[in-house]
Amino acid sequence: MLLLRGLRKTLGERVLFDIDTLAVEKGRAYVLTGVNGAGKSTLLRVLAGLEPASCASISWQGEALRLAPYPACMRTRIVYVHQHPVLFSTSVAHNVAFGLLARGMPKAAAAAEAQAAMEWAGVAHLQASDPAVLSGGEKQRVALARAKVLRPDLLLLDEPTANLDGAAREQVIALIPALIDAGNTVIMACHDRDLINLPGVRRFKLRDGQLEFK
Ligand SMILES: Nc1ncnc2c1ncn2[C@@H]1O[C@H](COP(=O)(O)OP(=O)(O)OP(=O)(O)O)[C@@H](O)[C@H]1O
Ligand SMILES: [Mg+2]
Repeated sequence: MLLLRGLRKTLGERVLFDIDTLAVEKGRAYVLTGVNGAGKSTLLRVLAGLEPASCASISWQGEALRLAPYPACMRTRIVYVHQHPVLFSTSVAHNVAFGLLARGMPKAAAAAEAQAAMEWAGVAHLQASDPAVLSGGEKQRVALARAKVLRPDLLLLDEPTANLDGAAREQVIALIPALIDAGNTVIMACHDRDLINLPGVRRFKLRDGQLEFK
């Protein structure tokens, strides 16, 4: 689905990563590990077009493209979920439906899709709530519903369980196999052993600016 060669990110004099090959297969789930500061979040943001990087060659869905300027066909098909999701201070339901409305989907259809996504994420009972009052785990689940409802080809999750513990963490972890089983292609940056050890998940590791694949 996505093949990048020679993906290089520099910060001033520093080379954060210089990745020979990054290949992502459709319908697979990957974890991206590496020590703090290794560049995991930066790599996901580069893939989502939120940060620039240089790239020798890129192919998306079999089509050879350039990474800069970031292609519109990737912008709508790749969704990045931030570790600390920013939610608008309207209702949860509006947050989840927002992306669909922005894409011009009629209100009733967007509301129905948002309802299904909120049920999937176990936050339907919070749909009228202001996101400001939600717990960290609830916010993370709303963010996952908001991303899933867009039916992205590639979902990039940045530490979906960091800062969560107990039931909140388990509820978020439980959503991930459901995404994988539904055929979503997912890359998760994480340190969480329970996510890393999910069945069928492949592993990328950023180490000293290189990407290892296991
Ligand atoms: N815009 C920027 N300007 C300068 N340095 C940056 C910038 N963005 C990231 N960095 C640096 O790049 C390095 C990688 O950051 P990044 O957030 O990608 O790491 P990470 O692997 O996600 O770490 P963590 O496990 O802590 O989330 C860090 O040293 C960070 O300080
Ligand atoms: Mg990070």
